[in-house]
Amino acid sequence: MSAHVTATVYTSHVPAIGAAMDLGRTDEEYWVPLFEGYEPSRTWMADNTPDVIFLVYNDHATSFSLDFIPTFAIGTAAHFPVADEGWGPRPVPDVVGHPELASHIAQEVILQDFDLTIVNKLAVDHGLTVPLSLLFGQLDRGPDGGPAGAWPCPVIPFAVNVVQYPVPSGRRCLALGQAIRRAIDSYPEDLNVQVWGTGGMSHQLQGPRAGLINREFDTAFLDGLIADPVRVAAIPHIEYIREAGSEGIELVMWLIARGTMTDMSDPGGPAPTVRRRFYHVPASNTAVGHLILEDDVQRTREKESA
Ligand code: DHB
Ligand code: FE
Repeated sequence: MSAHVTATVYTSHVPAIGAAMDLGRTDEEYWVPLFEGYEPSRTWMADNTPDVIFLVYNDHATSFSLDFIPTFAIGTAAHFPVADEGWGPRPVPDVVGHPELASHIAQEVILQDFDLTIVNKLAVDHGLTVPLSLLFGQLDRGPDGGPAGAWPCPVIPFAVNVVQYPVPSGRRCLALGQAIRRAIDSYPEDLNVQVWGTGGMSHQLQGPRAGLINREFDTAFLDGLIADPVRVAAIPHIEYIREAGSEGIELVMWLIARGTMTDMSDPGGPAPTVRRRFYHVPASNTAVGHLILEDDVQRTREKESA
């Protein structure tokens, strides 16, 4: 038995969503449709909690400044504190890592010629904590209002530079996902692994086009990510910027997660099952998109043992 990818999860990571949860404002009229959209996903997640989450996100100049900009960085630590992004750290638990699996993936992916930066000390920002909050819900607080308890499973942070040009191409991200899948498959412990892709969808936070939302682009992206990721991986940066806004480029990270699914490593392999699809506008200045794609682990295993 080896580790295996059971599902991939995709979601925007808008910081205002985390603030709404932390400040107890989720039942305000503005937020109700957004959080209702994640309700079925939380139920699914409670029934399908993995052993480990490999979480692809971007640091927003929080832990990585412009002094050093790794294109792809893997968190190999046992523990990742929640970052202070200017208003104090979010009152959510620190993240527990999985150093053994993370180190294995680092080794296997680097030997497949992807240059990963190994990060042994890392504070994680909204890019990582807001997706966890969305999918696991509000966790208990301690008597002082601070975090109590723990996230339901370990998380391996995988940070991608989508902040400072040049950022990696969609094609490279999809191929990296395929390499990560091979690394997970070769880990000699029976672990249920989910790979999450975060950020997006269309949004631009600054300049004359601030507030840009492109529902048509987002819908086509979701359709394509599900059914034809190779075509989506060919979208050039300029098209993301033009159509999805300057921060819409975060969507290339979703291709890393998509690359870890069976149909991407085995061309005749089963297409994923869409467990959940949700789209909502707006959250702050952003279009929120969300998918859960289940892999057909059973069929893949049968094929392997045949
Ligand atoms: C905002 C920040 C983000 O990182 C993002 O992906 C979407 C929105 C914001 O500041 O509103
Ligand atoms: Fe972001």
